[in-house]
Amino acid sequence: MSDWYKTMAFYQIWIRSFADGNGDGIGDLQGVYEKLPYIKELGVDGIWFSPIYPSPNADFGYDISDYKNIHPDYGTLEEFQKVLEKAHELGLKVIMDLVVNHTSDEHPWFLESRKGKDNPYSDYYIWRDEPNNWDSLFEGKAWEYDPVRGQYYLHLFAKKQPDLNMDNPAVRKEVEEIMRFWLDLGVDGFREDVINFISKKEGLPNGVPFLPAVNGMIHYKDGPHIYEYNSQFRKVCMEYDAFQVGEGPMTTLPSALKYLTGKNKCLDMMFSFDHMMADCFYTEYMHRPFSLVKFKKAISKWQYGLQGKAWNALYLENHDHPRIISRYGSEIFWKQSGTMLAACYLFLQGTPFIYQGQEIGMTNIRLGRIEHYEDISSKTNYHTYHLKESTAKRLHRIHLSSRDSARTPMQWDDSPHAGFTVPEAKPWFYVNRNYKKINVKAQEQDQDSILNFYKTCLRMRKTSKTLLFGSYREYFPKNREQFIYERQLEDKHYLIICSFAGRATLLKYPPVFEGRKATLVLSNYKHREQVQLLQGESFLKPYECRVYRLRF
Ligand code: NOJ
Repeated sequence: MSDWYKTMAFYQIWIRSFADGNGDGIGDLQGVYEKLPYIKELGVDGIWFSPIYPSPNADFGYDISDYKNIHPDYGTLEEFQKVLEKAHELGLKVIMDLVVNHTSDEHPWFLESRKGKDNPYSDYYIWRDEPNNWDSLFEGKAWEYDPVRGQYYLHLFAKKQPDLNMDNPAVRKEVEEIMRFWLDLGVDGFREDVINFISKKEGLPNGVPFLPAVNGMIHYKDGPHIYEYNSQFRKVCMEYDAFQVGEGPMTTLPSALKYLTGKNKCLDMMFSFDHMMADCFYTEYMHRPFSLVKFKKAISKWQYGLQGKAWNALYLENHDHPRIISRYGSEIFWKQSGTMLAACYLFLQGTPFIYQGQEIGMTNIRLGRIEHYEDISSKTNYHTYHLKESTAKRLHRIHLSSRDSARTPMQWDDSPHAGFTVPEAKPWFYVNRNYKKINVKAQEQDQDSILNFYKTCLRMRKTSKTLLFGSYREYFPKNREQFIYERQLEDKHYLIICSFAGRATLLKYPPVFEGRKATLVLSNYKHREQVQLLQGESFLKPYECRVYRLRF
């Protein structure tokens, strides 16, 4: 396919919490429709919809019970078409979440499959008389006994998310049809959920248990037919010039290169998880304090590793992670760290994804009891790990790591429920109490807001070939408080300097820049001089970022 995606930036919508258009307390397509001009104004070029299909919501949409429809909470196919048309009119592409590693256990295929071995859908799922020793990522062991069929089925995620048997050609045909259904409607591509897990090793051998939750992964990550199956799906997308970004949990750089280049090329981009491991929230039981050095190492690994060969999918937030200001920055230096974090990744090489609310610096929510949380993995983590610790300590771990922090209603203004829904309605989930301070309306009116900073970064990126296509180089990788990198194209250079410290830190310029004059094109602090001599030592303020432009 053509590379139109390279100059783009995407906005991710997790619809349930985005905007409620019909006043029932749940976000919906009507709400999205009304906010399309806002998304356009932000300066992105496309939208990724997290699943909006019918689902019993055991995993909020990632357990699909009908692939070719819209969840009644969110609207109808007609309403979706209206959103799609309007988005296209505004020049926004739209990509859908393709979740085909598993379905809901309420999907008609599963309801049929469990009826027995002679059912036409019998082999749509992975059934065994005896389970192996694999763990699921969300709910204990990866096998659940089904009394109707009298066998166990595999579920790599929750019990209500049985894994599809992709070795069955009929299942792959169904996937093709799902893709065609949405492509025929006019969507522009897919974000493909855990797409590196869809081919399991023949015989499903036992894993060697060494860490909880991931036992068995070696036998289902990048499995034996993974490129073959994905190439089959790729062919469909090629017919439509559609775009594909794969989610690749725990994928390594060499294996990502196989998906992205050469004869196996079956995806345009892949979301790496390496930088998410710098504090390990994804595997909550291993959580450790954030290490900037580890984070930078992961970012640089992918920037250098894909340079000239493939293209990065850039992200810091999505619906699976806590909010970045609370995670990598500081709620005290809220604006400074929120803006610095924007600059720190929007100028890397790749296509940025911005998650709803990230652009206004939404922060983590801290609920008083585990029962108040909705996310299945938060609940499991709480009830499984660190059981010897006090409840307060365990709850604190959830405050730090929960996916629910990304799922609180979007804060549009300072009216009741943050303007997410009408005052009379009860929002489906808690609104963060800080909405009077952190909301879209306030930030639209403030020139120096996080929101306006995102807009500026996106504009700069879009209008600079160097920022889009220039090479990447990192400086001082061992510096524990600053992330400094360069983008270069011919004689044009950008130097991006980001402080991750909540106090002033000494800044040394990289030797190649020492003594040169540079224009300060962006900073989250006021500077008197726009043209500066990069010389000697200076100080960075807490969470300061600076972007210099120069030629040599
Ligand atoms: C990855 C998705 O991003 C996450 O939200 C979901 O729970 C799992 N895949 C399972 O579908």
